[in-house]
Amino acid sequence: MAVVELDNLVKDYGDVRAIHGVSLRIDDGEFCVFVGPSGCGKSTLLRMIAGLEDISGGELRIDGARVNEQRASERGLAMVFQTYALYPHMTVRENLAFGLENIKTPKDEIKRRVDDAARMLQIETYLDRRPKQLSGGQRQRVAIGRAVVREPRVFLFDEPLSNLDAELRVVMRGEISSLHHRLGNTMIYVTHDQVEAMTMADKIVVLRAGIIEQAGAPLDLYNRPVNQFVAGFLGSPRMNFIEVTVVSAEASGVTVRDAAGNEYRASVTGDGLAGGDAATLGIRPEHLDIAETGGHPVTVLSIEQLGGDSYLYCETKAGTKLTAHLAGQTALKRGDTAHALFRPDFTHLFRGDNGLALARTVVGEAV
Ligand SMILES: Nc1ncnc2c1ncn2[C@@H]1O[C@H](COP(=O)(O)OP(=O)(O)O)[C@@H](O)[C@H]1O
Ligand SMILES: [Mg+2]
Repeated sequence: MAVVELDNLVKDYGDVRAIHGVSLRIDDGEFCVFVGPSGCGKSTLLRMIAGLEDISGGELRIDGARVNEQRASERGLAMVFQTYALYPHMTVRENLAFGLENIKTPKDEIKRRVDDAARMLQIETYLDRRPKQLSGGQRQRVAIGRAVVREPRVFLFDEPLSNLDAELRVVMRGEISSLHHRLGNTMIYVTHDQVEAMTMADKIVVLRAGIIEQAGAPLDLYNRPVNQFVAGFLGSPRMNFIEVTVVSAEASGVTVRDAAGNEYRASVTGDGLAGGDAATLGIRPEHLDIAETGGHPVTVLSIEQLGGDSYLYCETKAGTKLTAHLAGQTALKRGDTAHALFRPDFTHLFRGDNGLALARTVVGEAV
């Protein structure tokens, strides 16, 4: 069992506040991902949980017990860093065993745990090598193995895959997910990569400048981002945004107009909006339909044909750049005029004054 609760946590570095009162509950067995741009406080928050940074305010609880004052080694957590931090002069086996020898674990118990971890992480054949005789992926497996052998209540990962090449990152992503599935431990994982967040998390926590913007299941955040920041952060290529003015707002939907006079309709509640208000319309690349007629005319700027699907980069009459993700291949060429269809059920709307999303009355799911 390991429920981790953050209750109004604050971190000050001198006069500078890095974490501004973060509250969050991470359930037992949950895979929780902290994601956000560089400098938003992900590592700081993780290190506060780990006991590597003092907590300036608020309370941190594990299984209901306050641990603010507890030392890192007493919290029952194990952390994996981006820089594997292996001992270069020790073999893989010695690296794995070292932490356990330090706390005087019996020899046969160390052997059992090292063998189990090595089997689980498929590093059995490298046990007698030194770190410099391993590839980056193998080294990262050893670093994870060193956390596994400690049998912690909670695993903490700080950007563990950032030093690996793209292909290996995908493989390791899958391996960490299956490790979580097998062990069932609570895991807290920090990344700036929204694809890792979407694919690995039970719960994503989006951070910005030391506060939580939104926390929830990946697809809930994807389908119902609470504000323009979350909408733009999750999804690649990112959501298209168009500056608009409200024409009319009803409970069942809102009509808006862009600078070139094109009108759009969004299936969102118009609560608190009035004609003339500034807003930002949002639509994801995969929801922007490109047709031969209808919709709004756009000029094709460039095309990427990947074979299985295509990306169309185009521009509206108002000069706004849009990206469309099309299934399959397209005959469109640079300079062509195409027609972009904005279906109301797939269209988001954000208030101009504070960036908050208007609640969606219908959420069209990707098909
Ligand atoms: N030891 C420190 N002293 C002063 N400021 C720090 C220290 N560590 C981090 N910060 C600041 O706290 C903020 C959050 O940093 P960090 O948690 O490392 O961000 P992230 O991991 O999301 O990239 C940044 O503004 C950073 O400059
Ligand atoms: Mg960091």
